[in-house]
Amino acid sequence: MKEIAKRVLIGITGSISAYKTPLLVRELIKNGIEVRVAMTPTATRFVSPLTLENLTRHPVAVDMFDERIQNDGSWHVHLSHWCDAMLIAPCSATTLAKLSSGNCDNTVTALAMSLPEKTPLLVSPAMDTEMWLHPATQRNVRSIEQDGALVIEPEEGELASGLYGPGRLPEIDALTSHVLKLLNRMELISQNEEMMRTVDAALQQPVYDLQEGVDHDAFDAELELQHLKESLPISEQLRGRVVLITAGPTREKIDDVRYISNHSSGKMGYALAEIARDAGAEVVLISGPVDLPEPDGIRFESVESAQEMLQAVQVHWTDADVGIFAAAVADYTPVAPANGKIKKSDEEVEFVLKKTADILAWAGENKGNKAVIGFALEAENGLENAKAKLEKKNADMIVLNMVNQPQSGFGGDHNTITLVGKHGEQSFDPMMKTQCARLILAAAGELLGSSKST
Ligand code: PMT
Repeated sequence: MKEIAKRVLIGITGSISAYKTPLLVRELIKNGIEVRVAMTPTATRFVSPLTLENLTRHPVAVDMFDERIQNDGSWHVHLSHWCDAMLIAPCSATTLAKLSSGNCDNTVTALAMSLPEKTPLLVSPAMDTEMWLHPATQRNVRSIEQDGALVIEPEEGELASGLYGPGRLPEIDALTSHVLKLLNRMELISQNEEMMRTVDAALQQPVYDLQEGVDHDAFDAELELQHLKESLPISEQLRGRVVLITAGPTREKIDDVRYISNHSSGKMGYALAEIARDAGAEVVLISGPVDLPEPDGIRFESVESAQEMLQAVQVHWTDADVGIFAAAVADYTPVAPANGKIKKSDEEVEFVLKKTADILAWAGENKGNKAVIGFALEAENGLENAKAKLEKKNADMIVLNMVNQPQSGFGGDHNTITLVGKHGEQSFDPMMKTQCARLILAAAGELLGSSKST
């Protein structure tokens, strides 16, 4: 995992509010951030570089030719590449104009102009209200924003001049929070990028060769989940292919008011259907009774019992390129379901159950060139049982999930899966069912690719 972003370069420019920056620097250091400082000559009239040198324990870059900062003459490259983010606070109207026009005649603007593209520049303007509202200043703000700078609006309040209005430098807490939020976001993005590289690399391999794990911490933030949802790769192999998916529970009738069923919510199967559809596949979703809305843009079959599910699969099987069997199909069904309502009595009641048809096994028997992916919901000996199912049901892959683990199996939005292929397996940490679906579908694409070439 990339090291947490925590190096901040502070640029201080000529404004009375520069007196706040030593406190800001101290606060950032308290938060574990390494800080270096650059100042314009005018800023040194408001706050002493010596104070900042003492706080940061590093020379402050004021004079471009200061021997102490040279680094073989490339001080600006060195410092701008050293930091994870740069904050100019306070940023005067003059500095805004210089940033907007690319004027590098002091250390602060030279450093801002030397930042690598990925390093964010935060700018916190502070000046008198009229200067702030002046069209030239506003133009410069828009212009630096267009160039990628993140501008922190000045606060409204009493200004050093005694006037009242917008133009105040935000308080230390607010500035610190802006910096911390930015660094956190960068950290998430970098974890995200790393995770996507890991997943990408893993998905380049056939399922049975997957080696790398996925760090699930990064999945915790909603921002990141959304980002991942949009960006994890799904194989192009699915475009235009017909993907048949079973989802949800089945209900096996005891009588007209009672049935045998289970806790499947359908979320896993529906996530597969929606993501396969978004990847350009033609989706047939065969669903037992669930509370989820029917997804748009797919062929949808609603069924009740295992027998109905089998029949629906058989109807659509000829067209399918891939079958993914996520439904929790009842293994047993009453031999003689009653019509009406079985009368309550004081006697013990016995029902005779028979095995339902095994839909996955049927698909495996009638596989042809299709890819068949089953699930295994296990309470113990997960891997062993999943491998046995892979073999017995002639599947190409089994998605193993456990019943009794947190963030796994029925109901919730998360699942913890192991992809079990013919030559090995790959376990993943808990993740959203939508993310599981992406991994499963990417693997399905790989299977299709390999079945085409053999
Ligand atoms: O719906 P959710 O709340 O999101 O929960 C998701 C899930 C837990 C239901 C899903 O991730 C899952 O594990 N689905 C399979 C559940 C199951 O029935 O597992 P199993 O180990 O009993 O069955 C093995 C495989 O055979 C499954 O692919 C199943 O669909 C299939 N099967 C089972 C019995 C049967 N008669 N016919 C089948 O096709």
